[in-house]
Amino acid sequence: MLQKIEATANFIKEKTNFRGKTAIILGSGLGNFTEKMDIKHSLSYKDIPNFPVSTIEGHAGKLIIGTFKGQEVVAMQGRFHYYEGYTMEELTFPIRVFKMMGIDYLLVSNAAGGINYSFEVGDIMMITDHINMFGTNPLIGKNEEKLGPRFTNMSNAYDAQLCEVARKFARSNNIRLQEGVYVGLTGPSFETNAEYRYLNTIGGDSVGMSTVPEVIVANHMSMHVFGISVITNNGLEVPEEGNNHNEVLDVAGIAAPKLEAIFGAVIENID
Ligand code: HPA
Repeated sequence: MLQKIEATANFIKEKTNFRGKTAIILGSGLGNFTEKMDIKHSLSYKDIPNFPVSTIEGHAGKLIIGTFKGQEVVAMQGRFHYYEGYTMEELTFPIRVFKMMGIDYLLVSNAAGGINYSFEVGDIMMITDHINMFGTNPLIGKNEEKLGPRFTNMSNAYDAQLCEVARKFARSNNIRLQEGVYVGLTGPSFETNAEYRYLNTIGGDSVGMSTVPEVIVANHMSMHVFGISVITNNGLEVPEEGNNHNEVLDVAGIAAPKLEAIFGAVIENID
């Protein structure tokens, strides 16, 4: 695995001359973020050796390299989901490549259901912690000591200092920034009403089908993580006609400017 990671990291670095410290994962409906970047290179996943290829609608499947707020960043436009059939190792592969490229900061975003009664659709929620309900873990199997330790500390999984930067920025710019715990599970079915209530009871505030594997792997490699959920639907009050993926994409697009502002503030703070 290590050889593959190195080969892919070298390929990207040679192609793009990337020197930055920050990677961004754009969740469902949030791919337009790259319009705010000064784009220097765009690599389709299919052209990157060892990269899995993304299949789902709303995910373009490209690595976009450029500058944002004056900093060099690499953005994943489209991520890999467990429900698409990738293994945990495959879907977290890009994060390991990022670390090998010298990246120490991972900014993640996702579209998520709200399971906190004070949240509204269109809110953005800073992820302060997560609950892994995937029933598995990307670090299962032989540990690669060169990447990180066997038993990874997850007590500061979402960097508290970066959270404080975002909190202050949101307060002084009048951006409604919720905070809470993201529950990650496999999908691809949405939750039943009983499951949404259960996830609220166990301490969840947002729920989605991604992020947790990438964040575990990033922590394994001692990366600093910052995360935002865009609340695209209300799990505690599902409409009669049910949840639907197109609505998720629409709301994500509408909330995107807030996400851009918060990510911008966090990135500006990275030296
Ligand atoms: N549940 C799981 N994943 C999601 C949801 C949801 O309600 N909304 C967007 N992604």
